[in-house]
Formats: sequence, C-alpha cells, structure tokens
Amino acid sequence: MASAFSLEISEPGIGVLYFDLPGEKVNKFSTPVMEELAGHIEEMKARHDLKVLLLMSKKPGIFIAGADVKEIASIADEQTGYEVGRKGQKIFTEFEKLPFPKVAVIDGACMGGGTELSLCCDFRLASDNPRTKIALPEVTLGILPGWGGTQRLPRLIGLQKALDVILTGRTLSAKQALRYRLVDKLIAAEWLQEKALEFAHEVLAGKTQRYLERRKIRGAANVFLEKTAIGRSIVFSQARKSVLKKTHGHYPAPLKALEVIEKTADFPLEEGLKKEAKALGELMATPISKHLVQIFFWTEEIKKENGLKDTAITGNTVQRAGVLGAGVMGGGIAQLLASRSIFVRVKDINYEAVARAYQQAAYVLGSKVKKHRLSRMEFNQIMNRITGTTDYTGFPSTNLVVEAIVEDLDLKKKVLAELEGHVNEQTIIASNTSSLRINDMAEALQRKENFVGMHFFNPVHRMPLVEVVRGQHTSDIAVATVFNLAKKLGKTPILVNDGPGFLVNRLLLPYMVEAISLLEEGNRIEDIDRAIFNFGMPMGPIELFDEVGIDVAYKVAKILRQSMNDRMADSDLLPKLLEAGRLGKKSGLGFYKYEGRKKVQDPKIKHFISIKAHYKLNEAELVQRMIYPMINEAARCLDEGLVAKARDVDVGMIFGTGFAPFRGGLLKFADTEGIGRIVAKLADFSDRYGSRFKPAESLLKIKEQGSFYRN
Ligand SMILES: NC(=O)c1ccc[n+]([C@@H]2O[C@H](COP(=O)([O-])OP(=O)(O)OC[C@H]3O[C@@H](n4cnc5c(N)ncnc54)[C@H](O)[C@@H]3O)[C@@H](O)[C@H]2O)c1
Repeated sequence: MASAFSLEISEPGIGVLYFDLPGEKVNKFSTPVMEELAGHIEEMKARHDLKVLLLMSKKPGIFIAGADVKEIASIADEQTGYEVGRKGQKIFTEFEKLPFPKVAVIDGACMGGGTELSLCCDFRLASDNPRTKIALPEVTLGILPGWGGTQRLPRLIGLQKALDVILTGRTLSAKQALRYRLVDKLIAAEWLQEKALEFAHEVLAGKTQRYLERRKIRGAANVFLEKTAIGRSIVFSQARKSVLKKTHGHYPAPLKALEVIEKTADFPLEEGLKKEAKALGELMATPISKHLVQIFFWTEEIKKENGLKDTAITGNTVQRAGVLGAGVMGGGIAQLLASRSIFVRVKDINYEAVARAYQQAAYVLGSKVKKHRLSRMEFNQIMNRITGTTDYTGFPSTNLVVEAIVEDLDLKKKVLAELEGHVNEQTIIASNTSSLRINDMAEALQRKENFVGMHFFNPVHRMPLVEVVRGQHTSDIAVATVFNLAKKLGKTPILVNDGPGFLVNRLLLPYMVEAISLLEEGNRIEDIDRAIFNFGMPMGPIELFDEVGIDVAYKVAKILRQSMNDRMADSDLLPKLLEAGRLGKKSGLGFYKYEGRKKVQDPKIKHFISIKAHYKLNEAELVQRMIYPMINEAARCLDEGLVAKARDVDVGMIFGTGFAPFRGGLLKFADTEGIGRIVAKLADFSDRYGSRFKPAESLLKIKEQGSFYRN
C-alpha cells in the first residue's frame, strides 16, 4: 500500500506530518492506516531534530473524516469492539506522548477519530475555510467516541461543553470551536502553511502562555459546575434529562457516553480509556448501531446516484430557477434554492402572496443568523437572489421551474400549459404535488419529457427527503437534473414512479386514517398517539393530522382512497372537523386544542367521533394495527416497481416521516418482526376488522423469500 502519511521537515526543528490517504477523497482511519501511523510515531520518537510537529492534511476540504465506517459495520461482538477501541487508544496515546509539542492544523472536516487525534495534540488551529467543521458524531452511528474522546474532551474544554459536543454529535464551525476553546486559534485558509509555521515559531519561542491561559474555566458559576461534586452532579443530571427528552430512551449511545464520562470523571486517563473502550464494544454490537450505520451507508450510496439505472448523465445545471406559488412550500423551496447560489423568480397571483414567501425565507435564514450559522452578509446575499413577480418575466431564462400552487388538478393543468409558453425548450418543469399523478398533469404540456415530480416535504428547510417522480414521458435528463439538484440542496432523493401519493403518502395516509378507525372503535386519542410515539415515531398519527393540517390531509386522503378503495379505512370524521373550522394546529383547534405552544386535550372532540364498534386494544396491538398495513402496502409498492428496492422504502419513510431510525426503517423493522408473524397478524385483523388488512400477494411472496432484504 502507498503511504498515507509523510513526514517533511519544513524548517529546522519544524516537522509536518501530512495525512493523504492514497486513492481516496477523504482521510480516514482503517486498520492499515492506524498501523502506519503507529510506525511513524515509533520513528518520530527516535528523532532528535524535531522540536515541534504540525499535523496537516493534503486533501482539499478534509482534515480527517474519522474512522472507516465499513470497519465499524463489520464488528459484530463486544470483545472485538473493545479491542479496536484499545488499539486505537494506545496508538493515539503514543502520539500524545511524543517528546515535542504537536499542533493540529485543521482545514476542512475534522470528524470523530480526527477530532480525537487532534485532542492528543498540544494545540489546535482551525482555518476559516467554511468547510472546516469539527465534531464527534459517533452517537449518530449508535456508538461513542472510543479513541479517547470521552476522556480528553472534558479535560480540555470542561464537562458542560464536552457533554454538549459528545451527547449530541453536533458539528461545530471553526468559530464555534474557538468559542468552545476546542481550538486555540483561527487562521486564514489562504495562508494556511505560513500561518501554521508562524504558530510553530511561537511554540518554539515558548510564547504559548496566552493560549493556555484562555483555556481556564472562568466565572464563579462555571467553577462551581465544573469543579465541585454538587455542581457536577447537577450538570450530569441536566444532561441526562436533555438526552432523554430528545431520544425518549430509544438510543443507548448518548446515555452510555454520559455514563462513561460521569463514572470516569476522577479516573486517571488510562483507567478512563479502558472504560470507554468497554462501552464502545458494547454499543458496537447493538442492532441499533448496525441500523444507524446502515442508514449512513444508504445516504452515502444515494450521493453517488443520479436516479437512473444505467447511465451516468448528470442532467442540466440549474443556475436560474422559477417557483410558481409562493405558499408554504413555494416560500421554503425558494429559500433553499437561493441558499445554494441559485437565482430564483417567485411568481404568485398577487404581491401579498409573493411577500409571504419573502417573509418565510427571511424567517428561516434569520434564525440561522441568530444561531451564528450564517452571517448578515450571507443572509443579504441569499435574500438578494430571490425576486418576486406576478407575471412570467424572468421565466424564459430559467433552467428549472418548481410548481407549488394549490393542489387542484384542473388548476395545475391550466397553469402548467400557460407556464410552458413562457419558458425555454430546455427548462425542466417539476411539480411539488403531493398526491396528483404526474401523468395526469403532463397531459397539459407539449414537452412532456421535460416534466417531472419533485416532492419536497414540509417544512422544506428541515425535512431531508425529496421524492423524484418519473412520469411515463419524463426524460432521463429531467430525472437526473432534479435528482442531482435535490442532492445539491442537501436533501436525500429517492426515485419513485408515478402513482397516487407516490411512495410516502401512499403509506402514510392510510396509516393516519387507520388511527381514526381506532378512535371510532373506542380507543382514546392519547392512547393511540402514545403507542406510536413509544414505538419511535416523532409524534402520534392523530397529532400528525393537526400538524399537517386536517384540510391538507383530507385532500390527500380523499385522492388516495379513490385508488386504494377498500385497502384504506373510510371515515367521515375529517370533513366533520373541517366543517367545524378545526383545521389543526394552524387554527388552534383540531383533534387537540392549542394554547400558545402548548397542546392540550379537548373534551369537545368526542362529540365529533361516532363510535362504530368497541374494540379496545392494548399498546402492542394498536401499533400493529397501524404499522403492519404499511408493510403490506410497501410490499405491493415494491412488486409494482414503484420504487426499485427495499432501501428506497426505508430511506423514504425515515427521511420523509421520521420513521424510527433506530429500527432501521419500515422494512428492516418488518424483517426483525418476522414476515410470517406479520402475515399471520394481518390475516387475523382481516377476519376481525375488515378485508383491508388482508395480506397482499406481494407480502406472501416476501414471506416465501424470508425477508425484504434477502438480497
Ligand atoms: N403543505 C404541505 O405540507 C405540502 C407538502 C408537500 C407538498 N405539498 C404540495 O405543494 C403544493 C403547494 O402547497 P402549499 O401547502 O404550499 O399551498 P399554499 O396554499 O400554502 O400555497 C399555494 C400558493 O399558490 C398560489 N397560487 C394559486 N394559483 C396560482 C397561480 N395560478 N399562479 C401562481 N400561484 C398561484 C396561491 O396564491 C398560494 O400562495 C401543493 O401541490 C401541495 O400538495 C404541500
């Protein structure tokens, strides 16, 4: 293997250890790379000409991306996990012990093991390159920083900040890392070498006191919280509360990390490291970690795809875009496009509506400014890329137009036909419809090949999924353009063929309507919502109605029922609520009542619910009644070729609905449950509650195969 590391003597006494993994875009630690590093450490130990060492990367935009996730995925037992942890720790500790000061020069992403190696340095410099980001994201893969991160970070920056970084896996910008005192100094990326050498000279001259000085804990409250037993116990108990609030106990990694940090707070480093490695081994072997790692691989896989099977075309570059409809979705889409340097024309029927899109974009971007994630100047630059109109001026030069007007087929067709006359022959037209067929809308167009679905989820800036919908006439260029654009916007796209509700709404709406059937069988709103929440969804289905808007959900449910017929429950509850003005959260009243930000039970809701039967179910059965039919329908979707593979169902459900990631997705969950068991239960439900539960032929085929992920 060609060398990953090279040592260069830059000036007398100053060595630079470069990390540049051959044949890879990023630097990462695999077993051979770690062994090579160990060899270099041995060699450096014996050198007398080194007085200071700079640790640098030769990869643009990357310092060190962390450990090789493939190796993490391959570890199946606790002992191996422990040994991998110990081995890495020992090499890093040897690095730390080198008899001269070491300086990490962080330019680009510094993640996981990269951050842990930098913690073994005496000083850390971070460049002002916007790509410089520092994190210990291990908990997002269901493990903990196991090469010394749980030990060295609290020692360096204090418990409170270290817990914040480790338990959330959050990414710090260079500036935030400086504020957290995780780095000692910011340097200009353009003058990286010069500035790093300048710092090395400061170290050689012994002029580092001010950097060490600024690491000291300041303020009486902080000293109390960091240095006294009572103070620390307060910090740990608050941290535990905040982890549980976020994870609801479904994710063991942050709790384990917390436990390690708490138990080892007064341990000598070596003892603490052993505990850390033991916890790492335990976490690595859990199915939850395997699921989270699998989701990571899926997103990485999708980053390399273009939505097409066999061609490598990239589609058109989008520099200018139009957005039709400045509503909830249009405003969000405009903001997202402009944030990625695309000029956007937003058209609505009047200027009040256009102004709302501006307000929405300003609100989302403004909150980033408040959190220091965006500068005022960047805010202005992005806002300046959005311009509004009530006619089609500016549309002829667009590369893409996203249609996000109201969900009405006739209106959409009329507007699309009109739009086509105001764009150029190459302009891709993408509809954000959530339930109408792309083929039906395409009827209004001459250039049907340029028409494609681009289904964003609400709220646009937060939801990571985009369904790219291929209609009967959609060209490869249109698919690749929209698929690649979605990636550029930071989203995870999946390719879906045309059909009512595409993938996600086709699975989600019947599940939500099933919750209404359960209500009409005498189950309580809070029991239904709690069952699903405890299962691991971000919220229960009834609360979800209120969030989405009962009007919006009813519209989609009605359209879906036309095609799904008796595969979906039916109820007249939604129109009754609408008639009473209960639109959900936005009107302050839906299934629940909203008092400011607080959601409370509303006793009056029972007057709307007509009890049709009496079947009070326990929590497990409530979950099965709502989740198993989704699995049944997903099997049909796969059989129909609506999506290409089980992965796409799981990615769609996790990123489009928040389906419990720790369960690995809907179909991973199905495999864990056992398809035979699900089929038997659905058959039983079909006898008891109606034919909509009947196991699909497609599911029976999966049962024969054994699992959704057989291949
Ligand atoms: N709201 C959601 O949760 C959600 C999620 C995904 C997709 N969608 C889809 O996105 C689309 C828009 O939904 P929304 O929630 O943003 O609706 P909205 O009612 O908030 O906005 C629609 C906008 O379209 C404008 N409009 C109507 N006719 C127009 C015309 N001829 N030209 C230009 N603008 C016109 C309206 O004035 C309004 O501002 C729909 O197709 C919907 O199904 C909505």
